[in-house]
Amino acid sequence: MTAQNQQSHILIADDDPEILQLLEDILSDKGYEISAVRWGKTAYEKLLHEAYDLLLTDLRMPDIDGFELMELVQKHQPDLPVLVITGSTSTRDAVRAIKQGALDFVEKPFDVDAICHTIGKALEVGRLRGESRLLAEELAKPYRFENIVGEDDRMMDIYSLVQDVAGTNTSVLVIGESGTGKELISQAIHYNSPRNRKPLVKVNCVTLSESLLESELFGHEKGSFTGATGMKRGLFEVADGGTLFLDEIGEMSLSTQVKLLQFLQDGTFRRVGGTQDLSVDVRIIAATNRDLKQMVNEGKYREDLYYRLNVFPIQMPPLRARRGDIAKLARYFLQNFGQEMGKRLQGFKPRALRILENHLWPGNVRELENAIERAVVLSKSEWIEEKNLTFLDPGAATLNDSIHTQMMHAEGSLQNQVDAFEKCVLQEILDECKGNRSQAARKLSINRTTLIAKIKKYSLDSTEAKTS
Ligand SMILES: Nc1ncnc2c1ncn2[C@@H]1O[C@H](COP(=O)(O)OP(=O)(O)OP(=O)(O)O)[C@@H](O)[C@H]1O
Ligand SMILES: [Mg+2]
Repeated sequence: MTAQNQQSHILIADDDPEILQLLEDILSDKGYEISAVRWGKTAYEKLLHEAYDLLLTDLRMPDIDGFELMELVQKHQPDLPVLVITGSTSTRDAVRAIKQGALDFVEKPFDVDAICHTIGKALEVGRLRGESRLLAEELAKPYRFENIVGEDDRMMDIYSLVQDVAGTNTSVLVIGESGTGKELISQAIHYNSPRNRKPLVKVNCVTLSESLLESELFGHEKGSFTGATGMKRGLFEVADGGTLFLDEIGEMSLSTQVKLLQFLQDGTFRRVGGTQDLSVDVRIIAATNRDLKQMVNEGKYREDLYYRLNVFPIQMPPLRARRGDIAKLARYFLQNFGQEMGKRLQGFKPRALRILENHLWPGNVRELENAIERAVVLSKSEWIEEKNLTFLDPGAATLNDSIHTQMMHAEGSLQNQVDAFEKCVLQEILDECKGNRSQAARKLSINRTTLIAKIKKYSLDSTEAKTS
């Protein structure tokens, strides 16, 4: 008995009780699960309400015949393979059955080996049909956001913007500090768009010199400059039908800006050294960590291009503004790197996690990703500990870091630890209320005098507003 036999459920319909019994005996012996019915009507009902792996049916039955059953299968379970029982039926019936979608025959009188062979093949066809349908459904499914971690409200708003804009041809400008996920979001837009079967071409405007960038983007004609020995198609042409991702768009020279502006205005461009206007169907997504508006004010960026690019801005929040996502991202990277390096890791020790959550992350998600990679390399146990965490910029601590660290290192009596906790909570609320003692007291549900006493006791900083 094979594993496949154990799982396969076969419905047999034949009005001849002897044939039915014989088939049931043969196939049960081989380990298949069998439902055997004498009436077409019963088979019809069963097909409507139950899932089978194979239908084995007689063609001529007094009530509902095999042809009607096959029609039902076509409508309700088109993946279900059908085999017909033949012998007394005419060749015409058999041909009609095949035309209607039956896979093959099982001929009377039965030869056990031949039947089993035919049934095995039919089940395999059914399995492949199911797999290819699942694959087709998978391909048709939108890309979604599986590889993007973040449940902060700001990220939720971004997912919704991506969904709104993906299906259009509108240019998108993704703005945010380094490492905030600008490229990741740009990819999500492309892969959620109808252009997702065409290329997503990425160009970083900072890595190429001005002239190289122009010829990379727009191509060049033969002889257009020294070394241009042949015509070269540019990335705009390569991206035809798809998306061009222009990274670090703030670094583009003014002359290249003019050419990009022309494309955004009328969809045309010229190769370097060319005289002919070419047109392609390309969607532009640009990214920057610069303040383009300010660059416009300083005369370093074309105002008209700025407005063309900024039709649909998406602002990526810095990681410090969505602290709730730090632990989720850390666990996600831990799992990825653990798998990559073949290390079995359970998670973070509470103190290590608190350190991660309190770090300022000037390099945003990329910095966190790198920190976790280093921690996974360094870890000797199943848990990431404080000592596995090293920061590239240890000076970049949060305002509350010192107090949190004090809390984390609080040792000794229970009272000591409770005090450390109280101190931490008080400082956080005071910071939140920008030093306003009355407001802080209300939030903490204590009176102002008690708060002042505690501020004194713990030497808390409750002076002017703090920036975050
Ligand atoms: N929300 C997220 N979920 C999972 N991984 C993320 C997320 N945001 C960023 N990353 C990862 O962090 C790294 C940096 O992201 P990305 O390259 O998209 O940032 P960026 O804003 O383009 O950075 P830069 O300005 O430095 O080019 C990548 O490895 C990316 O996969
Ligand atoms: Mg980037």
